[in-house]
Amino acid sequence: MTEESAAAATVRTVADLPWMDVDDPRFTADPLAFLAEHRARDWAFRSRRGVEIIRHEQVWRFLTDRALVPDIGRVVEAAGLAGTAVGAHMAGGMLGANGPDHTRLRGAAAAHFSPARLAAWRPVIRDVCAALVGDPAPGAVVDLVPLLCAPLPGVVFARMIGAPDADAADLCARSDAVIRLFDQDPAHRDGVIAAGEELHDYVTGQLAERRAAPGADLLSSLLAHHDGGRLEDAELVALTVELLAASTDNTTGQLATTLAHLLTDPTPTESGEVGGLWGVVAADPALAARAAVEAERVSPRVGFVNRHAVRDTVIDGLALERGVWIRCSVLSGHHDERVFADPDVFDPARADQRRSLVFGGGPHYCIGAGLAQVEIEEAVGYLAERFPGLRAEGPPVWHVTEALTAVVSLPVRIP
Ligand code: HEM
Repeated sequence: MTEESAAAATVRTVADLPWMDVDDPRFTADPLAFLAEHRARDWAFRSRRGVEIIRHEQVWRFLTDRALVPDIGRVVEAAGLAGTAVGAHMAGGMLGANGPDHTRLRGAAAAHFSPARLAAWRPVIRDVCAALVGDPAPGAVVDLVPLLCAPLPGVVFARMIGAPDADAADLCARSDAVIRLFDQDPAHRDGVIAAGEELHDYVTGQLAERRAAPGADLLSSLLAHHDGGRLEDAELVALTVELLAASTDNTTGQLATTLAHLLTDPTPTESGEVGGLWGVVAADPALAARAAVEAERVSPRVGFVNRHAVRDTVIDGLALERGVWIRCSVLSGHHDERVFADPDVFDPARADQRRSLVFGGGPHYCIGAGLAQVEIEEAVGYLAERFPGLRAEGPPVWHVTEALTAVVSLPVRIP
């Protein structure tokens, strides 16, 4: 047997894969246990959704393979939003483009997410944190989600596009509503459409203001690309709506999970309470970066990332036909016992820490990953330095599904 025919003999087709019943109530009840049980058997499964990829090594390989694309246009169609303004904006941005068009659209915004620009945001983010937290009285109980996690990304993004801080709350509410389109739930359709129209009007107004008085902000840069002939009218609005919609909700969720893990970790404090890791981060704020990555691993905000095959291909001996949908499970990859020792344990000091899958991979790797990371590091660092004795007041409220992990309430007592 030649090497070629030996390789061909080991190729599996989708029909050869074992079945995963994604409607099994055990999946909803305990996604981690369900995925672990399947991970022990194989790295790929067939399901009514297409192909499920669930081990870390293959999740990364599939996320980065050029034959597979996010194809947001198809997600928009499946959500029943083809032909709507919001559908056009979401599909018309960088997530919906590929090849040279994608490079051109991404290039219009990329300079604002460079390491040098992000470093300049660190002191600004600290100031925003201080303004949002204010001066709570010692002994007061406050909920860190509405106090800090929810508003912070909106204010940072408003400043990034040169809009007033006062616009941030509305921006967050609308972008949260727009990204419900990924739920593909008909019950959310009207809300998605309405929020998309409001964002369109807002963005159009902001672009007109920036055209009259350009600055160093992101919108002024996009306008310069447009006026230089590198962006169409529709692309200019679509990119801005996309960036707005993508920027807030996920960062809020990942910041809240990082804080919840640190404040409720079973490591004891000197006085024997839970939350000992909070004191460790307070003593060494550089650990905030590792804590953020570890929280992304254990509790990834985005549980899976979709891919769509644009041509026939073979990846890791699995033959995929053009058109097949692939669900890359970030949640499962992050808990893969082949890669992480004690994968369900939150341990910012772990030796096997690596880049998380929560921001996707390949050409569409999240453009805001660095910004989100900087926001989380600065918010955690700010709180830990100012309140080293901060303690959780009762358990946080977690919301964990296969698609999404969130902490919706995190009450703490101010020392
Ligand atoms: C913790 C916070 C965040 C998470 C978990 C997250 C997650 C993701 C994921 C999974 C993707 C798809 C990547 C792929 O298909 O390979 C993505 C793309 C994207 N994200 Fe984020 N994101 C976050 C924050 C942000 C922020 C702060 C911004 C903007 C300021 C942003 C803007 C975008 C954009 C524009 C894309 C499309 C990139 C492209 O197609 O080239 N995200 N994000």
